[in-house]
Amino acid sequence: ALRGVVAMDGPSGTGKSTVSRRLASSCGAAYLDTGAMYRAATLAVLRAGLDADAPSDEVASAATHGVQESGTDPSAPTITLDGEDISAEIRGPEVTALVSAVSALPEVRNTMVARQHALIEEAVRDGGGIVVEGRDIGTVVVPDAPLKVYLTASPAVRAARRGRQDARAGRTSNLHVTLADVERRDRLDSSRRISPLYAAADALVLDTDDLSADAVLDRLRALVAERG
Ligand code: C5P
Repeated sequence: ALRGVVAMDGPSGTGKSTVSRRLASSCGAAYLDTGAMYRAATLAVLRAGLDADAPSDEVASAATHGVQESGTDPSAPTITLDGEDISAEIRGPEVTALVSAVSALPEVRNTMVARQHALIEEAVRDGGGIVVEGRDIGTVVVPDAPLKVYLTASPAVRAARRGRQDARAGRTSNLHVTLADVERRDRLDSSRRISPLYAAADALVLDTDDLSADAVLDRLRALVAERG
């Protein structure tokens, strides 16, 4: 069984969400998608009629109100805004375009990390385990996690995966635009002053260009079993 926290970090399109959720399900562990929390906060900003040019205190205030995650069950992760299920809408292009700007604000990150700590503590109380995915889990949110994994892949492979994901979800997308977005978010997420994206020194770095989700999952399950 999985005990404690598995920290899963890396940029978008590495298969992080698929693998994290399946790892949690197959180990009877809880699951937390912190990217969904920043996406939901961003949708709250858009619904408040604000954009990247609005004053940052107004953005931060709109971002931290009304969002509620359903808990940490890997079989049904939903997230709501003022009671409405927004799990699908937060994957759309409007949110994706603005999320890196909203998540770079210190007030937004402080609020999110406090919520993440509460959800994680609840999951690991009484010896439980949780797989937490994001950009700063192994570096900032849970720096003492016993298992840290950093997934990478080349931008072209990641853009192609994002494109297939969009197609499956019924969203039209264009590979050039998706690649440009992947590279833009890499740049913003890696260069921001607070909690930038990078692999923790003690993270296992896995390049998934030539690894299927099944292969990555096998590696992680073996690691979890080894560490008992
Ligand atoms: O993982 P996902 O692509 O859904 O994350 C969306 C965005 O949320 C990222 O590009 C990043 O800007 C932000 N994020 C973050 N910290 C996290 C998770 C996501 O800043 N722990």
